[in-house]
Amino acid sequence: MTYSVSVPPRLVIGGGSLDSIGEVVSGLGASRPLVVTDGFLAGNGVADRVKDILASAGLAAEVFSGTVPDPTSVSLDAGVAAVKDHDADAVIGLGGGSPIDTAKALAVLSVRGGSMHDLKAPVKYDGPALPVIAVPTTAGTGSEATQVTVITDTETDEKMMCAGPSYLPKAAVVDHELTHSMPRRLTADTGIDAMTHAVEAYVSKQRQGFSDAMALQALATIGTSLRRCVENGTDVEARAAMMEAATFAGIAFSNSSVALVHAMSRPIGGHFHVAHGMANAMLFPAVTEFSLGMDDDRYAACARALGVAGASETDADAARLLVDFLKQVSADFDVPTPESFGIDRDEWFAKIPLMAQQAIASGSPANNPRVPSAEEIEAIYAKIYS
Ligand SMILES: NC(=O)c1ccc[n+]([C@@H]2O[C@H](COP(=O)([O-])OP(=O)(O)OC[C@H]3O[C@@H](n4cnc5c(N)ncnc54)[C@H](O)[C@@H]3O)[C@@H](O)[C@H]2O)c1
Ligand SMILES: [Fe+2]
Repeated sequence: MTYSVSVPPRLVIGGGSLDSIGEVVSGLGASRPLVVTDGFLAGNGVADRVKDILASAGLAAEVFSGTVPDPTSVSLDAGVAAVKDHDADAVIGLGGGSPIDTAKALAVLSVRGGSMHDLKAPVKYDGPALPVIAVPTTAGTGSEATQVTVITDTETDEKMMCAGPSYLPKAAVVDHELTHSMPRRLTADTGIDAMTHAVEAYVSKQRQGFSDAMALQALATIGTSLRRCVENGTDVEARAAMMEAATFAGIAFSNSSVALVHAMSRPIGGHFHVAHGMANAMLFPAVTEFSLGMDDDRYAACARALGVAGASETDADAARLLVDFLKQVSADFDVPTPESFGIDRDEWFAKIPLMAQQAIASGSPANNPRVPSAEEIEAIYAKIYS
Protein backbone atom coordinates (compact mmCIF):
# COMPACT_ATOMS: atom_id res chain seq x y z
CA MET A 1 0.00 0.00 0.00
CA THR A 2 1.19 3.52 -0.70
CA TYR A 3 -0.25 6.60 0.90
CA SER A 4 0.52 10.29 1.12
CA VAL A 5 0.40 12.54 4.17
CA SER A 6 -0.97 16.09 4.26
CA VAL A 7 -0.30 18.37 7.20
CA PRO A 8 -0.19 22.17 7.31
CA PRO A 9 3.39 23.06 6.36
CA ARG A 10 3.74 25.04 9.58
CA LEU A 11 2.18 24.35 12.99
CA VAL A 12 3.08 26.54 15.95
CA ILE A 13 1.73 24.89 19.10
CA GLY A 14 1.75 26.01 22.71
CA GLY A 15 0.72 28.64 25.25
CA GLY A 16 1.50 32.15 24.02
CA SER A 17 2.05 31.05 20.42
CA LEU A 18 -0.50 33.65 19.28
CA ASP A 19 2.30 36.20 19.60
CA SER A 20 3.95 34.59 16.55
CA ILE A 21 1.00 35.22 14.21
CA GLY A 22 2.64 38.26 12.56
CA GLU A 23 5.81 36.38 11.77
CA VAL A 24 3.83 33.33 10.59
CA VAL A 25 1.72 35.38 8.15
CA SER A 26 4.61 37.44 6.81
CA GLY A 27 6.62 34.22 6.45
CA LEU A 28 4.03 33.17 3.88
CA GLY A 29 4.70 36.28 1.87
CA ALA A 30 1.32 37.86 2.68
CA SER A 31 0.94 41.50 3.67
CA ARG A 32 -2.85 42.14 3.62
CA PRO A 33 -4.53 39.41 5.67
CA LEU A 34 -8.25 39.39 6.44
CA VAL A 35 -9.02 38.08 9.92
CA VAL A 36 -12.23 36.05 9.68
CA THR A 37 -13.90 35.65 13.05
CA ASP A 38 -17.24 35.83 14.84
CA GLY A 39 -19.04 38.29 17.09
CA PHE A 40 -17.80 36.67 20.30
CA LEU A 41 -14.10 36.98 19.43
CA ALA A 42 -14.60 40.43 17.94
CA GLY A 43 -16.29 41.45 21.20
CA ASN A 44 -13.89 39.99 23.77
CA GLY A 45 -10.76 41.70 22.47
CA VAL A 46 -9.06 38.67 20.89
CA ALA A 47 -9.59 39.84 17.30
CA ASP A 48 -8.20 43.27 18.19
CA ARG A 49 -5.19 41.65 19.81
CA VAL A 50 -4.53 39.66 16.63
CA LYS A 51 -4.89 42.81 14.53
CA ASP A 52 -2.40 44.62 16.80
CA ILE A 53 0.16 41.81 16.57
CA LEU A 54 -0.21 41.80 12.78
CA ALA A 55 0.18 45.59 12.66
CA SER A 56 3.37 45.36 14.75
CA ALA A 57 4.71 42.99 12.10
CA GLY A 58 3.97 45.62 9.43
CA LEU A 59 0.88 43.87 8.05
CA ALA A 60 -2.28 45.69 6.99
CA ALA A 61 -5.00 43.53 8.53
CA GLU A 62 -8.77 43.98 8.51
CA VAL A 63 -11.33 42.05 10.55
CA PHE A 64 -14.48 40.39 9.22
CA SER A 65 -16.63 39.28 12.15
CA GLY A 66 -19.71 38.10 10.23
CA THR A 67 -19.18 34.34 10.73
CA VAL A 68 -22.27 32.48 11.90
CA PRO A 69 -22.13 29.21 13.88
CA ASP A 70 -22.22 26.25 11.49
CA PRO A 71 -21.61 28.60 8.53
CA THR A 72 -24.21 28.81 5.80
CA SER A 73 -23.75 29.43 2.08
CA VAL A 74 -25.51 32.80 2.34
CA SER A 75 -23.29 33.90 5.23
CA LEU A 76 -20.28 33.63 2.89
CA ASP A 77 -21.43 36.41 0.56
CA ALA A 78 -20.49 39.23 2.95
CA GLY A 79 -17.17 37.50 3.62
CA VAL A 80 -16.29 37.27 -0.07
CA ALA A 81 -17.09 40.99 -0.37
CA ALA A 82 -14.83 41.71 2.64
CA VAL A 83 -11.93 39.79 1.05
CA LYS A 84 -12.34 41.82 -2.14
CA ASP A 85 -12.83 45.18 -0.35
CA HIS A 86 -9.62 44.67 1.57
CA ASP A 87 -7.82 43.24 -1.46
CA ALA A 88 -6.69 40.50 0.92
CA ASP A 89 -3.82 38.21 0.00
CA ALA A 90 -4.39 35.76 2.88
CA VAL A 91 -7.27 34.76 5.14
CA ILE A 92 -6.86 34.10 8.87
CA GLY A 93 -9.57 31.92 10.45
CA LEU A 94 -9.78 32.95 14.12
CA GLY A 95 -12.23 31.04 16.29
CA GLY A 96 -13.84 27.65 16.54
CA GLY A 97 -14.55 25.48 13.53
CA SER A 98 -17.10 27.97 12.19
CA PRO A 99 -14.72 30.90 11.54
CA ILE A 100 -11.96 28.56 10.34
CA ASP A 101 -14.33 26.81 7.92
CA THR A 102 -15.65 30.18 6.77
CA ALA A 103 -12.09 31.38 6.14
CA LYS A 104 -11.38 28.25 4.06
CA ALA A 105 -14.52 28.75 1.97
CA LEU A 106 -13.74 32.46 1.44
CA ALA A 107 -10.19 31.59 0.39
CA VAL A 108 -11.60 29.44 -2.40
CA LEU A 109 -14.72 31.40 -3.42
CA SER A 110 -12.96 34.78 -3.59
CA VAL A 111 -10.56 33.36 -6.19
CA ARG A 112 -12.69 30.78 -7.97
CA GLY A 113 -16.17 32.29 -7.80
CA GLY A 114 -19.19 29.97 -7.91
CA SER A 115 -20.73 28.43 -4.81
CA MET A 116 -19.78 25.77 -2.26
CA HIS A 117 -22.64 23.68 -3.60
CA ASP A 118 -20.51 22.99 -6.69
CA LEU A 119 -17.73 21.73 -4.43
CA LYS A 120 -19.46 19.33 -2.04
CA ALA A 121 -18.18 15.78 -1.58
CA PRO A 122 -17.26 13.70 -3.52
CA VAL A 123 -15.60 16.69 -5.31
CA LYS A 124 -11.99 17.13 -4.17
CA TYR A 125 -11.01 20.73 -4.85
CA ASP A 126 -7.34 21.34 -5.64
CA GLY A 127 -7.66 24.58 -7.61
CA PRO A 128 -6.49 28.09 -6.76
CA ALA A 129 -7.20 29.62 -3.35
CA LEU A 130 -5.78 32.27 -1.05
CA PRO A 131 -3.51 30.95 1.71
CA VAL A 132 -5.38 30.17 4.95
CA ILE A 133 -3.85 30.58 8.40
CA ALA A 134 -5.90 29.00 11.19
CA VAL A 135 -6.03 30.08 14.82
CA PRO A 136 -8.40 27.78 16.72
CA THR A 137 -10.09 28.88 19.94
CA THR A 138 -11.90 25.60 20.65
CA ALA A 139 -10.36 22.15 21.22
CA GLY A 140 -11.88 21.17 18.94
CA THR A 141 -12.74 20.51 15.43
CA GLY A 142 -9.15 20.17 14.28
CA SER A 143 -10.16 22.26 11.26
CA GLU A 144 -6.82 24.08 11.62
CA ALA A 145 -5.15 20.94 10.26
CA THR A 146 -7.71 19.47 7.86
CA GLN A 147 -8.44 19.57 4.14
CA VAL A 148 -12.13 19.98 4.89
CA THR A 149 -14.68 22.75 5.29
CA VAL A 150 -18.30 22.16 6.28
CA ILE A 151 -20.88 24.62 4.93
CA THR A 152 -24.66 24.41 5.30
CA ASP A 153 -26.65 24.97 2.09
CA THR A 154 -29.03 27.77 3.09
CA GLU A 155 -31.76 26.58 0.74
CA THR A 156 -31.86 22.91 1.76
CA ASP A 157 -30.32 22.93 5.27
CA GLU A 158 -27.91 20.30 4.00
CA LYS A 159 -24.57 20.38 5.81
CA MET A 160 -22.17 19.92 2.93
CA MET A 161 -18.72 18.46 3.47
CA CYS A 162 -16.31 20.04 1.02
CA ALA A 163 -12.83 18.55 0.83
CA GLY A 164 -9.60 18.90 -1.07
CA PRO A 165 -5.98 20.04 -0.74
CA SER A 166 -6.84 23.71 -1.35
CA TYR A 167 -8.61 23.90 2.04
CA LEU A 168 -5.55 22.77 3.99
CA PRO A 169 -4.23 25.75 6.00
CA LYS A 170 -0.73 26.86 5.07
CA ALA A 171 -0.09 27.43 8.77
CA ALA A 172 -1.84 27.09 12.11
CA VAL A 173 -1.17 28.77 15.43
CA VAL A 174 -2.50 26.50 18.16
CA ASP A 175 -2.53 28.42 21.44
CA HIS A 176 -4.46 26.71 24.24
CA GLU A 177 -4.70 29.99 26.16
CA LEU A 178 -7.43 30.98 23.68
CA THR A 179 -9.58 28.07 24.92
CA HIS A 180 -9.55 28.96 28.61
CA SER A 181 -12.71 31.04 28.20
CA MET A 182 -14.75 28.08 26.91
CA PRO A 183 -17.71 27.29 29.17
CA ARG A 184 -18.37 23.70 30.30
CA ARG A 185 -20.92 22.85 27.57
CA LEU A 186 -18.65 24.06 24.74
CA THR A 187 -15.64 22.31 26.30
CA ALA A 188 -17.56 19.02 26.46
CA ASP A 189 -19.07 19.24 22.97
CA THR A 190 -15.88 20.24 21.20
CA GLY A 191 -13.84 17.71 23.19
CA ILE A 192 -16.22 14.91 22.19
CA ASP A 193 -15.88 16.09 18.58
CA ALA A 194 -12.11 15.65 18.85
CA MET A 195 -12.53 12.20 20.42
CA THR A 196 -14.91 11.21 17.60
CA HIS A 197 -12.36 12.35 14.99
CA ALA A 198 -9.66 10.17 16.54
CA VAL A 199 -11.85 7.06 16.89
CA GLU A 200 -13.37 7.40 13.42
CA ALA A 201 -9.96 8.03 11.80
CA TYR A 202 -8.61 4.91 13.54
CA VAL A 203 -11.45 2.56 12.54
CA SER A 204 -12.04 4.04 9.06
CA LYS A 205 -11.42 1.96 5.97
CA GLN A 206 -9.27 4.88 4.76
CA ARG A 207 -6.85 4.56 7.69
CA GLN A 208 -3.10 4.39 7.18
CA GLY A 209 -0.05 4.21 9.40
CA PHE A 210 0.37 7.94 9.90
CA SER A 211 -3.29 8.59 10.73
CA ASP A 212 -3.22 5.63 13.13
CA ALA A 213 -0.30 7.13 15.03
CA MET A 214 -1.94 10.54 15.29
CA ALA A 215 -5.28 9.04 16.34
CA LEU A 216 -3.82 6.87 19.10
CA GLN A 217 -1.70 9.72 20.44
CA ALA A 218 -4.77 11.97 20.46
CA LEU A 219 -6.86 9.33 22.27
CA ALA A 220 -4.21 8.75 24.93
CA THR A 221 -4.23 12.47 25.69
CA ILE A 222 -8.00 12.84 25.52
CA GLY A 223 -8.35 9.93 27.95
CA THR A 224 -6.41 11.79 30.61
CA SER A 225 -7.38 15.40 29.92
CA LEU A 226 -10.93 15.82 28.55
CA ARG A 227 -12.72 15.12 31.81
CA ARG A 228 -10.34 17.44 33.67
CA CYS A 229 -11.12 20.28 31.23
CA VAL A 230 -14.86 19.76 31.57
CA GLU A 231 -14.76 19.55 35.36
CA ASN A 232 -12.30 22.40 35.84
CA GLY A 233 -11.89 24.88 33.01
CA THR A 234 -8.92 26.51 34.75
CA ASP A 235 -6.81 23.34 34.63
CA VAL A 236 -4.13 24.80 32.36
CA GLU A 237 -2.19 21.57 31.92
CA ALA A 238 -5.33 19.73 30.78
CA ARG A 239 -6.35 22.60 28.48
CA ALA A 240 -2.91 22.51 26.82
CA ALA A 241 -3.08 18.75 26.38
CA MET A 242 -6.61 18.83 24.92
CA MET A 243 -5.68 21.55 22.45
CA GLU A 244 -2.78 19.54 21.08
CA ALA A 245 -4.91 16.37 21.00
CA ALA A 246 -7.65 18.12 19.02
CA THR A 247 -5.12 19.21 16.39
CA PHE A 248 -3.66 15.69 16.23
CA ALA A 249 -7.16 14.21 15.88
CA GLY A 250 -7.83 16.63 13.02
CA ILE A 251 -4.62 15.54 11.30
CA ALA A 252 -5.69 11.92 11.85
CA PHE A 253 -9.09 12.19 10.18
CA SER A 254 -7.87 14.53 7.44
CA ASN A 255 -5.41 11.81 6.39
CA SER A 256 -7.89 8.99 6.96
CA SER A 257 -11.56 9.97 7.12
CA VAL A 258 -14.50 10.30 9.42
CA ALA A 259 -17.17 7.61 9.33
CA LEU A 260 -20.73 6.89 10.41
CA VAL A 261 -20.96 9.23 13.44
CA HIS A 262 -20.11 12.27 11.33
CA ALA A 263 -22.20 11.06 8.42
CA MET A 264 -25.24 11.01 10.70
CA SER A 265 -24.44 14.08 12.80
CA ARG A 266 -24.18 16.52 9.88
CA PRO A 267 -27.90 16.17 9.01
CA ILE A 268 -28.85 16.64 12.69
CA GLY A 269 -26.85 19.87 12.75
CA GLY A 270 -28.24 21.04 9.43
CA HIS A 271 -31.92 20.39 10.09
CA PHE A 272 -32.18 20.88 13.84
CA HIS A 273 -29.32 23.32 14.58
CA VAL A 274 -27.67 21.12 17.17
CA ALA A 275 -24.01 22.10 17.75
CA HIS A 276 -21.67 19.83 15.83
CA GLY A 277 -19.93 18.22 18.82
CA MET A 278 -23.23 17.70 20.64
CA ALA A 279 -24.78 16.04 17.59
CA ASN A 280 -21.80 13.68 17.49
CA ALA A 281 -22.18 13.01 21.19
CA MET A 282 -25.86 12.10 20.74
CA LEU A 283 -24.83 9.41 18.23
CA PHE A 284 -21.42 8.19 19.36
CA PRO A 285 -22.45 5.36 21.76
CA ALA A 286 -25.23 3.98 19.52
CA VAL A 287 -23.17 4.12 16.33
CA THR A 288 -20.20 2.46 18.03
CA GLU A 289 -22.47 -0.26 19.42
CA PHE A 290 -23.89 -0.82 15.92
CA SER A 291 -20.39 -1.05 14.46
CA LEU A 292 -19.06 -3.73 16.83
CA GLY A 293 -18.44 -7.22 15.52
CA MET A 294 -16.32 -5.92 12.64
CA ASP A 295 -12.78 -4.73 13.34
CA ASP A 296 -13.22 -5.11 17.10
CA ASP A 297 -9.44 -5.05 17.44
CA ARG A 298 -9.57 -1.44 16.23
CA TYR A 299 -12.24 -0.38 18.70
CA ALA A 300 -10.33 -2.29 21.39
CA ALA A 301 -7.16 -0.32 20.61
CA CYS A 302 -9.15 2.91 20.98
CA ALA A 303 -10.44 1.73 24.37
CA ARG A 304 -6.93 0.85 25.50
CA ALA A 305 -5.50 4.18 24.27
CA LEU A 306 -8.21 6.03 26.17
CA GLY A 307 -7.33 3.99 29.25
CA VAL A 308 -10.73 2.35 29.65
CA ALA A 309 -9.52 -1.19 28.90
CA GLY A 310 -6.26 -3.01 29.50
CA ALA A 311 -4.19 -5.76 27.93
CA SER A 312 -6.00 -8.50 29.85
CA GLU A 313 -9.40 -7.97 28.19
CA THR A 314 -10.16 -9.70 24.90
CA ASP A 315 -10.66 -7.36 21.94
CA ALA A 316 -14.41 -8.01 22.02
CA ASP A 317 -14.57 -7.14 25.74
CA ALA A 318 -12.40 -4.05 25.31
CA ALA A 319 -14.58 -2.86 22.40
CA ARG A 320 -17.65 -3.32 24.58
CA LEU A 321 -15.94 -1.29 27.34
CA LEU A 322 -15.51 1.53 24.81
CA VAL A 323 -19.28 1.64 24.30
CA ASP A 324 -19.83 1.66 28.09
CA PHE A 325 -17.32 4.50 28.42
CA LEU A 326 -19.02 6.56 25.71
CA LYS A 327 -22.39 6.10 27.45
CA GLN A 328 -20.84 7.19 30.74
CA VAL A 329 -19.27 10.26 29.12
CA SER A 330 -22.66 11.25 27.69
CA ALA A 331 -24.26 10.91 31.12
CA ASP A 332 -21.50 12.72 33.01
CA PHE A 333 -21.31 15.57 30.46
CA ASP A 334 -25.12 15.97 30.38
CA VAL A 335 -25.40 15.23 26.66
CA PRO A 336 -29.09 15.58 25.79
CA THR A 337 -31.10 13.25 23.58
CA PRO A 338 -32.81 14.90 20.60
CA GLU A 339 -35.99 14.74 22.67
CA SER A 340 -34.56 16.40 25.78
CA PHE A 341 -32.82 18.95 23.51
CA GLY A 342 -36.35 20.01 22.55
CA ILE A 343 -36.75 18.57 19.05
CA ASP A 344 -40.36 17.77 18.27
CA ARG A 345 -40.96 14.01 17.92
CA ASP A 346 -43.04 14.25 14.72
CA GLU A 347 -40.54 16.56 13.07
CA TRP A 348 -37.65 14.26 14.00
CA PHE A 349 -39.30 11.13 12.65
CA ALA A 350 -40.52 12.92 9.51
CA LYS A 351 -36.93 13.98 8.72
CA ILE A 352 -35.34 10.56 9.31
CA PRO A 353 -35.55 9.28 5.68
CA LEU A 354 -34.04 12.52 4.33
CA MET A 355 -31.32 12.55 7.01
CA ALA A 356 -30.45 8.92 6.18
CA GLN A 357 -30.27 9.76 2.49
CA GLN A 358 -28.00 12.77 3.15
CA ALA A 359 -25.81 10.70 5.48
CA ILE A 360 -25.25 8.10 2.76
CA ALA A 361 -24.71 10.73 0.04
CA SER A 362 -21.84 12.24 2.05
CA GLY A 363 -19.85 9.06 1.41
CA SER A 364 -18.71 8.78 5.05
CA PRO A 365 -20.78 5.65 5.96
CA ALA A 366 -18.82 3.66 3.37
CA ASN A 367 -15.71 4.18 5.55
CA ASN A 368 -17.33 2.63 8.63
CA PRO A 369 -16.17 -0.84 9.71
CA ARG A 370 -19.78 -2.03 9.43
CA VAL A 371 -21.33 -0.34 6.41
CA PRO A 372 -24.98 0.37 7.19
CA SER A 373 -28.00 0.14 4.91
CA ALA A 374 -30.38 3.10 4.72
CA GLU A 375 -32.80 1.16 6.95
CA GLU A 376 -30.09 0.61 9.58
CA ILE A 377 -29.24 4.32 9.60
CA GLU A 378 -32.92 5.14 10.00
CA ALA A 379 -33.14 2.68 12.90
CA ILE A 380 -30.21 4.37 14.68
CA TYR A 381 -31.85 7.80 14.26
CA ALA A 382 -35.06 6.37 15.71
CA LYS A 383 -33.23 4.68 18.59
CA ILE A 384 -31.38 7.77 19.80
CA TYR A 385 -34.42 10.07 19.80
CA SER A 386 -35.27 9.54 23.48
N1 LIG B 1 -13.40 21.58 8.77
C1 LIG B 1 -13.29 20.59 9.64
O1 LIG B 1 -12.37 19.80 9.54
C2 LIG B 1 -14.30 20.46 10.71
C3 LIG B 1 -14.22 19.40 11.64
C4 LIG B 1 -15.19 19.32 12.63
C5 LIG B 1 -16.19 20.28 12.71
N2 LIG B 1 -16.26 21.27 11.79
C6 LIG B 1 -17.29 22.32 11.83
O2 LIG B 1 -16.94 23.25 12.84
C7 LIG B 1 -18.13 23.89 13.32
C8 LIG B 1 -18.18 23.83 14.81
O3 LIG B 1 -17.07 24.47 15.36
P1 LIG B 1 -16.90 24.58 16.94
O4 LIG B 1 -17.50 23.41 17.58
O5 LIG B 1 -15.46 24.85 17.20
O6 LIG B 1 -17.80 25.82 17.33
P2 LIG B 1 -18.11 27.26 16.66
O7 LIG B 1 -16.94 27.80 15.94
O8 LIG B 1 -19.38 27.14 15.91
O9 LIG B 1 -18.33 28.11 17.98
C9 LIG B 1 -19.43 27.82 18.84
C10 LIG B 1 -19.62 28.97 19.82
O10 LIG B 1 -18.51 29.02 20.70
C11 LIG B 1 -17.99 30.34 20.76
N3 LIG B 1 -16.56 30.26 21.09
C12 LIG B 1 -15.53 29.93 20.26
N4 LIG B 1 -14.37 29.91 20.95
C13 LIG B 1 -14.68 30.25 22.24
C14 LIG B 1 -13.90 30.43 23.42
N5 LIG B 1 -12.59 30.22 23.43
N6 LIG B 1 -14.55 30.76 24.55
C15 LIG B 1 -15.89 30.94 24.57
N7 LIG B 1 -16.68 30.80 23.48
C16 LIG B 1 -16.07 30.46 22.33
C17 LIG B 1 -18.28 30.92 19.40
O11 LIG B 1 -18.26 32.31 19.41
C18 LIG B 1 -19.66 30.33 19.12
O12 LIG B 1 -20.65 31.12 19.75
C19 LIG B 1 -19.29 23.14 12.68
O13 LIG B 1 -19.80 23.87 11.60
C20 LIG B 1 -18.66 21.85 12.22
O14 LIG B 1 -19.34 21.26 11.15
C21 LIG B 1 -15.32 21.38 10.82
FE1 LIG C 1 -16.26 16.76 13.77
